[in-house]
Amino acid sequence: MTQVFFNGNWIAPEMAQVSVFDRGFLFGDGVYEVIPAFNKQLFGAKAHLTRLARSLREIEIVDPMSAAQWLEVIERLVVQCPSDDVSIYIQVTRGTPPKRDHAYPNPPVAPTVLASANPITPVSEEIRRQGARAITVPDLRWSRCDIKSVNLLPNIMARQQAVAAGASEAILVREGIALEGAASNLFAVIDGELLTAPLGPHILGGVTRNRLVDMVRAQGQIPLLECPIPFDRLFDATEVFMTSSTRDLLPITRINDHAVGTGKLGSLWAQLNQAFQQLKTQRGSV
Ligand code: PDD
Repeated sequence: MTQVFFNGNWIAPEMAQVSVFDRGFLFGDGVYEVIPAFNKQLFGAKAHLTRLARSLREIEIVDPMSAAQWLEVIERLVVQCPSDDVSIYIQVTRGTPPKRDHAYPNPPVAPTVLASANPITPVSEEIRRQGARAITVPDLRWSRCDIKSVNLLPNIMARQQAVAAGASEAILVREGIALEGAASNLFAVIDGELLTAPLGPHILGGVTRNRLVDMVRAQGQIPLLECPIPFDRLFDATEVFMTSSTRDLLPITRINDHAVGTGKLGSLWAQLNQAFQQLKTQRGSV
């Protein structure tokens, strides 16, 4: 059985238990990362660890480990996981002070640290052939979505609404702007340009998003603009896809009850997806 890394020890998952006074449990006071490995090779680990360090810095938790130590832990998890395609989950909370108090404990206590591995569930054959459906929902989140906080209630409610509607993802709309998904970033082809929301406090700077932006700019087959996507323009898009570490480039062929473009998989998506799949197989793309 795959062990988990918990507060510096390698133990069986059922032995990893947090206190009821853990601030992650009481307040959602912590941050997390999801890092993929494909065919047993980590993909984007450096960028994910940089983002983890940033999330921790933003909420003033001292990173309990160096990047090299994190890498050692996640590499061991990848090796141990029975699956070839692995999703590593890391969570760090502000630890377990003796008393519940909103303010940060002073002096600080040791953070609670978890790293575990799960097989990546591939997207279904149906979605591979026909694309997925997304629904649009109001963005109920806070104004620091750039921090990968474990406070995910609005994201969870949005994703649940999508699932209840038979869709794969929810597109979050704030003040008339389609920003990103419940757990993914959003790209749309409108008037021959590829648009995605600019980095900032209203989206998570996705590692997949950033890699794709670099890839598209390097290839130069379509102009790429990091600019807000007005909600109503979303329905003029000829192609839409949503990116994340565990779903790559998820093609969206229906939004609410509207077909996106022809309602079929788009040619730009097909081209970018192929290039992206190739990147995944290249060693050294850590
Ligand atoms: N979520 N936006 C949000 C709100 C996310 O939660 C995620 C990822 C992304 C995509 O980021 P990346 O390309 O770095 O995976 C964008 C992970 C997968 C999760 O919460 O499980």
